[in-house]
Amino acid sequence: MKKIKVLISEEKINNRLDELANQIMDEYKGKDIVFLCILKGSIFFTVELAKRIKNNIQFEFVEVSSYENNESTGKVKLNKDITQSIEGKELIIIEDIVDTGRTLAFLKELLLEKKPASLKICSLLDKPSRRIANVKADYVGFAIEDKFVVGYGLDDEQNLRNLNYIGYIEE
Ligand code: IMP
Ligand code: MG
Repeated sequence: MKKIKVLISEEKINNRLDELANQIMDEYKGKDIVFLCILKGSIFFTVELAKRIKNNIQFEFVEVSSYENNESTGKVKLNKDITQSIEGKELIIIEDIVDTGRTLAFLKELLLEKKPASLKICSLLDKPSRRIANVKADYVGFAIEDKFVVGYGLDDEQNLRNLNYIGYIEE
């Protein structure tokens, strides 16, 4: 059986989410925001962060895939698109983790064509050492080393998303 070790505890995540929410509220004073959640990994982060923010938030969802058997294939595919116009809106893409950056580079280009008033990226995790595409998150929860992580939305072949902490698998 795979053993999971805690990398970032629920308490640490909660504290960091409070900080991120305050930062976003400071920078978007009085503005409505659209949270664009990238399914499925970002659902936990999207919900928990949104609950801490007092601005009016609308939600949109996209689903993309690039991973097969826990390996990035390099080709990003859009499986589900947004359903409302984001033209003129303050858009924040909510991502679980920036790894190679290909997913976000692909999505950013696609979404900018839809003419939002602004577009920012907020990622719970960042693995800067793995970056291939030239893309940077504006808000980052935690920068981590190159480890395969699970929990808080992140999966190991669709499992382990519902852990309330971020862990890594000890082989
Ligand atoms: P990128 O396109 O390489 O930046 O990959 C981003 C996506 O790969 C994320 O949205 C995750 O779904 C997935 N991913 C990358 N690293 C991990 C990991 O350590 N655990 C689980 N999923 C990951
Ligand atoms: Mg993801």
